[in-house]
Amino acid sequence: MAARSDRPHAALPPGLAAQAAPAGPGPIHPGWLRVTHWLNALAVVIMATSGWRVYNAAPFFDFTFPNGITLGGWLGGALQWHFAGMWLLLANGLLYLGLNLTTGRLARKFFPVGPRGVLADLGAALRGKLSHADPRHYNQVQRLAYLFVIADITVLILSGLVLWKSVQFDTLRALLGGYEFARRIHFFAMALLVAFVAVHLAMVALVPRSLIAMIRGK
Ligand code: HEM
Repeated sequence: MAARSDRPHAALPPGLAAQAAPAGPGPIHPGWLRVTHWLNALAVVIMATSGWRVYNAAPFFDFTFPNGITLGGWLGGALQWHFAGMWLLLANGLLYLGLNLTTGRLARKFFPVGPRGVLADLGAALRGKLSHADPRHYNQVQRLAYLFVIADITVLILSGLVLWKSVQFDTLRALLGGYEFARRIHFFAMALLVAFVAVHLAMVALVPRSLIAMIRGK
């Protein structure tokens, strides 16, 4: 298969790049991708807001999260939400990754990615010169951000397993530096996830067409 150009319209002036945008067959995002994306968003909201309530019961920093933005009502309720949400996050994440890998979509959409490409696309974005003409194409900053959040959720799940079944996952617990350290890892991975979501939503607001495509597929 011919290699897809990484920055398809980079050499064209913006006006021409827009005209050159390929219509392409099929939806911009396949149905399974849209379903897993929105289920993931739901799972992340459940996990973060219930997790904040669990943290509030035994905080290790001198702050707690306002109860009004947490889920579960009390520690026991929050844990029930957290344990229910984790199955959705895990099963849906495995489905998303499995389909992305087996269809070759992961390699197609997220690679290549590297420091030079990321810096070039970041520079173009800051100068307002990054083309959004082809909604099927992720620029390298997006690729990095999406690969980062996939890795971050993996860390959240692995450290979460240690906190949930510390005795059963003793090797993993040792690898993560013990129970208390795994708790810090879990917390910082959550903070990075929340930061990703904030930036992600800001970017979606800047290119609202991408939201329509993630809902309707086109
Ligand atoms: C309700 C909040 C959210 C909205 C409105 C939203 C919107 C979108 C949109 C519009 C895209 C497509 C971007 C494009 O085509 O240029 C996208 C892709 C993506 N979003 Fe979100 N998103 C939300 C929450 C999340 C959350 C919570 C995560 C993960 C923690 C996430 C992770 C991703 C990833 C990994 C992709 C790339 C998916 C792929 O192509 O495989 N999103 N999102």
